[in-house]
Amino acid sequence: MIKTVVVMGATSAIATAILRQLVGADAYRVVLLGRRPEPLQLLKQDLLIRGAKIAEMIVSDMGDSRGAGLIVQEVLSHVTTIDILLISYGELGHIDARTNARETDRLLQVNFTSTAALLSGFLPLFENQRHGHIVVISSVAGDRGRQSNYIYGAAKGGLSVFLEGLRHHCFRFGVHVLTVKPGFISTPMTAHLPKGVLWSTPEAIAPLIINAIFSNQSEIYVPGFWRWIMGGVRLLPEWLFHRSRL
Ligand SMILES: NC(=O)c1ccc[n+]([C@@H]2O[C@H](COP(=O)([O-])OP(=O)(O)OC[C@H]3O[C@@H](n4cnc5c(N)ncnc54)[C@H](OP(=O)(O)O)[C@@H]3O)[C@@H](O)[C@H]2O)c1
Repeated sequence: MIKTVVVMGATSAIATAILRQLVGADAYRVVLLGRRPEPLQLLKQDLLIRGAKIAEMIVSDMGDSRGAGLIVQEVLSHVTTIDILLISYGELGHIDARTNARETDRLLQVNFTSTAALLSGFLPLFENQRHGHIVVISSVAGDRGRQSNYIYGAAKGGLSVFLEGLRHHCFRFGVHVLTVKPGFISTPMTAHLPKGVLWSTPEAIAPLIINAIFSNQSEIYVPGFWRWIMGGVRLLPEWLFHRSRL
């Protein structure tokens, strides 16, 4: 039977790597959402060549929660059931945002509020169908507020808490909610950052995420060693933490 996967932020490097591996392994109809038509079209063709049974695209900017209801309606005019909902868009933002009220508001919208609104819009479908996987890419940045990226971190931390509550609610409906917390991954979002031994690639983490989806895990760090790194960061006492440039 053909399964339906709906991906918001489909052109993101992490989502693209997951999709390429999924469609090569089973029969999928893919519904791809993104804000730029050209890369979406290219991804659609690529996935059809790699084995997707049906591929559709919806062009939309998901970064504003006020549009979430319309986006959900549009998706539901294409599909009546969703086996996997993957949300993988986001923006790191610039450090200058911390003195810019408007930019702070925008980053919280893109990375938290809009995703929360979309998830609330899709919830009745999942409650009714009583199955499915909701998979959201959060971040290790949400585990502790740090001077270098606390607006993005606050958004991802809020998102992780939202997902924790959603998972609690969805349990009795048989719906699985997976929180994915990547560490440093080489993608366009992080292209400007210097790379080192802690860095990984979308292709390396995609199978870990796919495995976590089908084994109904609640929360994963990818790669897994980030669980221990962030455990250590959370344990640092403030007198030491405040002297670091983390
Ligand atoms: N890379 C990392 O180190 C890392 C670590 C932790 C978490 N993450 C998370 O992983 C997810 C995927 O990011 P990535 O690393 O794969 O980076 P990426 O390839 O740069 O993807 C970011 C995606 O977000 C989309 N996007 C940004 N703002 C949007 C908006 N307002 N509406 C619709 N789409 C929007 C971008 O669309 P366009 O193509 O149109 O720009 C792009 O598809 C994000 O949630 C990110 O926060 C990444």
